[in-house]
Amino acid sequence: MPFPYPILSADEAAALVQHGQTIGFSGFTAAGSAKAIPKAIADRAREEHRSGRPFQIGVLTGASTGTSLDGALAAAEAVRFRTPYQSDPLLRSQINAGKVRFVDMHLSAFPQNVRYGFLGPVHWAVIEVCDVTHGGGLVLTTSVGATPTFASKADKILIELNSAQPASLLGMHDIFEPKDPPARQEIPIFAAGDRIGSPILLVDPKKIAGVVLTRMPDETSAFSPPTPETTKIGEHVAEFLVGEMRAGRIPPTFLPLQSGVGDIANSVLAALGAHPDVPPFEMYTEVLQDSVVPLLESGRCTFASTCALTLSDTALARVNDHPEVFHDRILMRPQEITNHPEVVRRLGIVSMNTAIEVDLGGNVNSTHVVGRQMMNGIGGSGDFTRNAYLSIFSCPSTAKAGKISTIVPLCSHMDHSEHSVQIVVTEQGVADLRGRDPHERAQLVIDHCAHPAYRDQLRQYLRLVKEGHEPQSLSLAFAMHRKFLTDGDMRNIDWEAWR
Ligand code: COA
Repeated sequence: MPFPYPILSADEAAALVQHGQTIGFSGFTAAGSAKAIPKAIADRAREEHRSGRPFQIGVLTGASTGTSLDGALAAAEAVRFRTPYQSDPLLRSQINAGKVRFVDMHLSAFPQNVRYGFLGPVHWAVIEVCDVTHGGGLVLTTSVGATPTFASKADKILIELNSAQPASLLGMHDIFEPKDPPARQEIPIFAAGDRIGSPILLVDPKKIAGVVLTRMPDETSAFSPPTPETTKIGEHVAEFLVGEMRAGRIPPTFLPLQSGVGDIANSVLAALGAHPDVPPFEMYTEVLQDSVVPLLESGRCTFASTCALTLSDTALARVNDHPEVFHDRILMRPQEITNHPEVVRRLGIVSMNTAIEVDLGGNVNSTHVVGRQMMNGIGGSGDFTRNAYLSIFSCPSTAKAGKISTIVPLCSHMDHSEHSVQIVVTEQGVADLRGRDPHERAQLVIDHCAHPAYRDQLRQYLRLVKEGHEPQSLSLAFAMHRKFLTDGDMRNIDWEAWR
């Protein structure tokens, strides 16, 4: 039977997209991101701009993407609106310059917000697949993200059939889209490995406007090697969790782990895998990074539920070359399911995420540098933190060669409140804030997490603000940030001078 969909070049596909339209692109991190069509849309935007015509689109994806998507579109000034998460340096600068409207959203809530119509119409879904059937069956590639929702909501679908992604990915996906209220029912996951959906995404074949043939690997960037700081943080987290198990607050069978993105998260998992007293564990997480691959091979990690395989080329090749090892141990699901508050609470997940800054109450800023400049977005950190069995945040105690303390009197932007954050970890140590009042929390955070270069000045701050349930001064709470903006350094503050 002949292939029932038109085969298009990327440029022909891009020519179908109109200025002002909204596109839902596959991808969660660089894993499974659409590549050829967004690049061609960027070229088209340049052409239109050269001819004096406006051309910008709304960009929806699962999370961050590869450079062919956010990077290329940003370089062509083709992005009008972006949600729910990004990490491309150029796009970030356009967002912070007010040139791109960016809405930062919890990743678990994003697909339902699209379905509910809160973000307006979705004109196109652009989806990378490793196989497509005549009846509209799509085998997704290295992520699921929000793709099922884009496919069901979009008016039309464009496919990138990527031969660089092996067809052996078939069977690693678990596609399940909840019904909307009032028909919503429970998410029937009672253990990390429970399969609840379909290995393929079924779409209406009549919506498929064309297929672009590609051969493009994921553009996942390599991890930096561990630093003494990230290694120390990893060891602290592992020791803390072992202590919890010994104290009987974590069952001897352990609990499923969620781990955030980036080098710290990678180091924490490596440390947990290496710790002799941590039993084999499962992961119920959003992103699978390189450090989990050897743990899955060795059996230290027995199962991983994830939204994406955010792996380097070598780690991904190991997964693809050994389906007998990995296929029964990994499931990729939509972000709505990997991050679902109901499942996170039910499974008793230990969540481990990274902070930009933490304040004396244990509030966490994950997103905005000095209160104003967007870094990436809240991602899934809020989905997990608010609902976890144990919620842990870690970060190095300083940034920018010690000129910034990540432990501050009051966060300059608030993503996770003191009501959700339980444990704070820096390379200096662990502050266990459970059951502590605001004054005790402040003391613990300073004593265990602040860098020695900042401990005394933070203690001085506490001495200045003894009154009240919260030890805060409305005039001085941001004095360290203000000093940084003035002097480029938060150290050696004279509190009285900043009143
Ligand atoms: N003030 C100013 N800059 C700071 C800072 C602070 N308090 N803390 C960190 N930074 C800077 C670092 O210096 C670094 O800058 P550089 O890129 O110029 O070197 C950058 O922020 C990243 O910090 P780094 O320590 O390398 O951490 P990271 O790469 O692990 O990222 C977050 C940390 C918080 C930005 C990242 O984890 C994130 O986006 N989190 C939100 C989403 C999330 O948690 N997702 C996972 C949920 S499943």
